[in-house]
Amino acid sequence: MDVKIKNVLNQLKILRSLKARIFIIVFLIGIIPSIVMRYGILNSYEDRAVSLRTSDVQRQLNIIANHLITYSYLTDTSSEVISAELEQLSNLYDGRVIIINSNLKIIKDTYGISEGKTIISEEVVKCMKDGAGGSSHNEEYAYIEFTTPIVEAVPAAEGQDAAKNGNEEKKKDIVRGVMLTSVSTDSIIATLDILSRKALIMEIMMLFIIFAIALVLASILTKPFERVTKAISEVKEGFTDEPVSVPDYLETEHIVDAFNQLLSRMKVLDTSRQEFVSNVSHELKTPITSVKVLADSLLAQEDVPAELYREFMVDIAEEIDREDKIINDLLSMVKMEKNVATMNVSVVDINALTEIILKRLRPIARKRDIELVFESNRAVTAAVDEVKMTLILTNLVENAIKYNKEQGAVKVVLDADHQFFTLEVIDTGIGIPEDSLEHIYERFYRVDKSHSREIGGTGLGLAITRNAVLLHRGSIKVSSKEGEGTAFTVKIPLS
Ligand SMILES: Nc1ncnc2c1ncn2[C@@H]1O[C@H](COP(=O)(O)OP(=O)(O)O)[C@@H](O)[C@H]1O
Ligand SMILES: [Mg+2]
Repeated sequence: MDVKIKNVLNQLKILRSLKARIFIIVFLIGIIPSIVMRYGILNSYEDRAVSLRTSDVQRQLNIIANHLITYSYLTDTSSEVISAELEQLSNLYDGRVIIINSNLKIIKDTYGISEGKTIISEEVVKCMKDGAGGSSHNEEYAYIEFTTPIVEAVPAAEGQDAAKNGNEEKKKDIVRGVMLTSVSTDSIIATLDILSRKALIMEIMMLFIIFAIALVLASILTKPFERVTKAISEVKEGFTDEPVSVPDYLETEHIVDAFNQLLSRMKVLDTSRQEFVSNVSHELKTPITSVKVLADSLLAQEDVPAELYREFMVDIAEEIDREDKIINDLLSMVKMEKNVATMNVSVVDINALTEIILKRLRPIARKRDIELVFESNRAVTAAVDEVKMTLILTNLVENAIKYNKEQGAVKVVLDADHQFFTLEVIDTGIGIPEDSLEHIYERFYRVDKSHSREIGGTGLGLAITRNAVLLHRGSIKVSSKEGEGTAFTVKIPLS
């Protein structure tokens, strides 16, 4: 049962194709009117032919009825003229005429079988009484039946009601008999059959023509969509770098526009990925190269004094530390990438956290005689990811110390309102040139490569910081003046 339903649905799947739908619609639009027209025309032909035949025969019957009186046929059936007329009528329409006199006796039957019999059919009696004739079409047996009164106009005085109408000059119609006629409609039906056959042939021809038209139309109308598919798969296979263009329809243009936007976005992503990979390789290579140079120069000399070994080994250890830091930064950055980062939210005492971080960094600050102060305007607890929050603060304060002057100062200010808390890291350092401000959050960007080299760093710190802030749905701002100092402001929702 289930399989059956599935099969049907699978077969119906073809209806989901635009081509199939266009084909079906065009085909129906083409074929339905021709079928309707055929039936309409054939039906109306039959009606019209029957009514023409009826009035033709009726007219002739009226003439014959008059002649019957003129030739007194009702009392004497020997008239040649009438016989000829009756003969002609029955031959012409393949019909039968029965003439009945006022005693309901059949005095003439063109078939010659019922003469002398008495007929008491309702129509005959009725017609005899009131002189009203008529006709009816019997479709099933294919004939038309006529009841025609045979009427004689006599002066009123001679009529049966002479006493009543005696003083009137008028003539009165008296029914002397009735003619019962039936004519066959076989010839009409035969014509109808021929017509119907011809119409059917026409219709079948139309069917083929419309089929072909529908097929052609369906494939022409859906061509542009196939072109879209083709163009897109060419891009997929790396055929072309050009934007796709299928301007045939507004719809295809929209699809293609959207696709091109996606394409250019992907190209940007791809470029930045390549840039990133080459930057990472370069950054990772630099310390290794240094280590190699240091090691080689030691190996190149013989009898190297122990102090020199020590000195070089200290440098090598520094380079390894640097490598380690780069790798650590890379790892935190990868973890921070929006699509893979998971937030480990807990309620954190921001004051306490800041204190801990500052305590950890104080030794570095002291080395350069830099004052490190924490100014808390209120107690703040917030729902944050503690590890990421630590990264944010550590990076900002570290920078403020690193890019500071001897005996400079770093101030961390914590404040909050009912929705956000803000952390400001203000330093009295070297500042950031204005045209560099927009780049500092880029991965590996460093304002002064040569100078930064001796300070140490990867250029990843602010990229990591910004990602961490954004993951908290916060914002980060910077204001700086070269030679005077820099202030970073981080604003993060409390929950
Ligand atoms: N407080 C600051 N004062 C001056 N320059 C800064 C400050 N913070 C960052 N910068 C500049 O922005 C660059 C990028 O910072 P960051 O991403 O932390 O990388 P890194 O510290 O590893 O060089 C730094 O190299 C530095 O030139
Ligand atoms: Mg840094």
